[in-house]
Amino acid sequence: MHYDSRTIALHWTTAGLVLILWTIGQTADFIPRGPFRGAYWSAHFLLGFIFVAVLLTRILWRSSGGKRLPPADSGALQVISKTTHYLLYALLVIVAALGLANAFAHGVSIFGIINLPKLADHARAESIGDLHELAANSVLALAAFHAAAALAHHYLWRDKVLERMLPERAS
Ligand code: HEM
Ligand code: HEM
Repeated sequence: MHYDSRTIALHWTTAGLVLILWTIGQTADFIPRGPFRGAYWSAHFLLGFIFVAVLLTRILWRSSGGKRLPPADSGALQVISKTTHYLLYALLVIVAALGLANAFAHGVSIFGIINLPKLADHARAESIGDLHELAANSVLALAAFHAAAALAHHYLWRDKVLERMLPERAS
């Protein structure tokens, strides 16, 4: 029993983008000021806009044609799993919205080609940036818990929950 291929592709694209965006965001300040750092941040902004599009597509697909599978757990575990999934979606929407707000608050440039207007003063932009970082770290923490649960299903309980989210050929 597997999710449909579009759901699977959207899940892993989201996961990959979250990991890359978080890594860029947390490491950019270690790079000396200059063109490379500018390009590094530009990659975050560009991938950020792609992430917003992927997330919207995922939510639309999930609520329309995406395949639904019966709950993998029962009792308390089912509640924890469902709550984690809803919280993940909520945090993904929050981090994306704060990312967009952050980009317009700072008036960022994307590779010098697209220059967004700066819509907030310095103090407001800083506080939106802090909230964006807090949301980003929360997504990472919850996703780590979620991934640990998926791996526990696979390696400890040896059931087929992880395989539901893997392409049919690979499992
Ligand atoms: C899963 C999605 C995302 C994650 C995990 C993430 C993560 C981060 C992190 C960790 C930082 C560094 C915060 C700091 O040190 O102050 C950051 C900064 C930033 N992010 Fe994101 N981000 C995501 C999505 C987005 C999106 C969608 C946009 C908008 C297109 C965006 C725009 C920005 C901007 C403008 C900054 C501040 C850049 C600067 O200080 O010059 N992010 N992000
Ligand atoms: C940033 C990383 C990740 C995010 C944001 C994320 C998000 C999500 C969300 C929101 C769902 C619920 C899907 C739905 O019912 O609509 C889900 C399902 C799932 N995820 Fe992740 N995920 C991430 C990483 C991972 C990793 C690393 C693994 C495996 C090690 C994994 C394994 C699974 C599995 C197996 C399911 C299906 C669970 C079931 O059928 O009950 N995810 N993920």
